[in-house]
Amino acid sequence: MAAAFGIEKAGRLAGTVAVPGDKSLSHRSIMLAGLADTPVEVHNFLAAEDCLSTVSCMRAMGVSVEIEPNGTVLVKGKGLYGLSEPDDVLDAGNSGTTIRLLSGLLAGQSFFSVLTGDDSLRRRPMARIITPLSQMGARLMGREKSRYAPIAIEGTGSLQGIEYRMPVASAQVKSALMFAALYAGSPTTISEPYLSRDHTERMFAQFGIQIRRQDLSVTVNPVNSLNAPQIVEVPGDFSSAAFLLVAATIIPDSELTLTNVGVNPTRTGLLDVLRQMGANIELMNQRFSGEEPVADLRVRSAKLQGVSIGREQIPRLIDEIPILAVAALFATGETLIQGAEELRVKETDRLLAMATELNRMGGVIEERPDGLLIQGNGRLNPAECRTYGDHRVAMSLAVAGMAHAGATLDDANCVNISFPGFFEVMKGCCK
Ligand code: S3P
Repeated sequence: MAAAFGIEKAGRLAGTVAVPGDKSLSHRSIMLAGLADTPVEVHNFLAAEDCLSTVSCMRAMGVSVEIEPNGTVLVKGKGLYGLSEPDDVLDAGNSGTTIRLLSGLLAGQSFFSVLTGDDSLRRRPMARIITPLSQMGARLMGREKSRYAPIAIEGTGSLQGIEYRMPVASAQVKSALMFAALYAGSPTTISEPYLSRDHTERMFAQFGIQIRRQDLSVTVNPVNSLNAPQIVEVPGDFSSAAFLLVAATIIPDSELTLTNVGVNPTRTGLLDVLRQMGANIELMNQRFSGEEPVADLRVRSAKLQGVSIGREQIPRLIDEIPILAVAALFATGETLIQGAEELRVKETDRLLAMATELNRMGGVIEERPDGLLIQGNGRLNPAECRTYGDHRVAMSLAVAGMAHAGATLDDANCVNISFPGFFEVMKGCCK
């Protein structure tokens, strides 16, 4: 049993923080480097549980991955056609990115593999990748009529390119198909209803893979080999920075500088929404790290007003809605989040989890089928809360507790999924 973890009310936050490396980019860097013919050094890799699941899966297929204590990872890949059949089930742990992107990659191999994960991952929808990958000629089967993991993949070594219109904007689905497309006999075009994070597109370009983007469609041409860079720089994770941005905004008299944060526009919806609510966040020293834009962010406390968020905004802040709900509690007026039903199929049902736990703390939140309606009042009680083993729920509740009355979390270890050292970083900022 996980020990209960106490969160104390914070006075003010100040200082400079380098948030850990980006989770999405860390996964992709290991997968692509594993398919390269030449060694790749990954700098600022996120050595958190989710990305370590990707590392162990790639190692099980013969890729050498050495993780140095300073966060640099040395990957010696096997080439596009050099992976070997894993002799056991591949365990993606809690990581949706691992299981979905690897399903695409494995669909293109000519060997058998099985992917599974923890209780949470085995409850998450997999038909969204199994259906289009099967249309490409792959043979995949999952539990309950191919709706859930474990997923068995019988690589046939022959895929065909397809034109696929994704019903839901999802970077994991898009990326799974992009990995499979590398192995197809003809180009694959994927279109999505709204643009989801485009890290795979950018990193494919960095590895010499030709892609063509047209509005909401991306076309991938099959390749014979990758042209890998020697070094991949992973910027800090905007989704981890989000907890500090909101904490420093709602805790009075705070000022934080977050260095080297990825500010890819497909990820920074929270920045726009917080600014619209009245937040004081400056982007400084804007530059590129490889194909990805980065900046230092300076955030100062500010008074927030409620806001209304629609479906078209959701993909750019998909992982930030739990912490946005906390910001909304501390705003004046009402905040309405709509079109966010995808949150129900994340690590936990995040709409249910945030509504239940913030109400338990004394917030006034109505759970809607596709979102949340939040009344801002900024007055909370020191409640005992459940994290549902979900890293982003845990960190959001921790920020809510720090901002007002403290809290107790039933399981705080789950923060290690994406932000090891979260509590130490937060404590270090408390003045
Ligand atoms: C991710 C895509 C998003 C996001 C997840 C990481 C990725 O999931 O929620 O944390 O790395 O591609 P969906 O594609 O399912 O929306």
